[in-house]
Amino acid sequence: MMKLASTALVTLIMVSGVSVADDAAINAKYEKSCKLCHDGGLMGAPKTGDVEAWAPRLEKGNEVLLKHVKEGFNAMPPKGTCMDCTDEEFQKLIEKMAK
Ligand code: HEC
Repeated sequence: MMKLASTALVTLIMVSGVSVADDAAINAKYEKSCKLCHDGGLMGAPKTGDVEAWAPRLEKGNEVLLKHVKEGFNAMPPKGTCMDCTDEEFQKLIEKMAK
């Protein structure tokens, strides 16, 4: 499971072409927008750092995940309440939460 998730993560990173992460800015956005639900798994949100919970999500592929983040997905609100996040930032937020 660990290996599967990290393979998916590497794919995510390669697909998005993101190499240098601005950790401080991403952490701030996570704290402000995603933490409320994803830290504790509120309403069935996949928990941050729960590799097993994220594995089936990552399998959906990058494009689908990004679309779900931007448009919302069931109890997940559109843009995860981060109205000023860019695609690249959402990408990094997903990568951060999924490992
Ligand atoms: C109000 C609570 C809430 C907030 C805030 C929130 N999420 Fe979520 N998120 C959820 C829930 C609940 C799910 C699970 C939805 C489901 O599978 O039915 C979810 C699922 C996801 C998924 C997986 C989607 C999929 O297709 O499986 C991603 C990616 C995600 N959230 C990213 C984020 C990001 C990035 C942020 C911050 C910018 C964020 N979320 C903020 C509640 C939240």
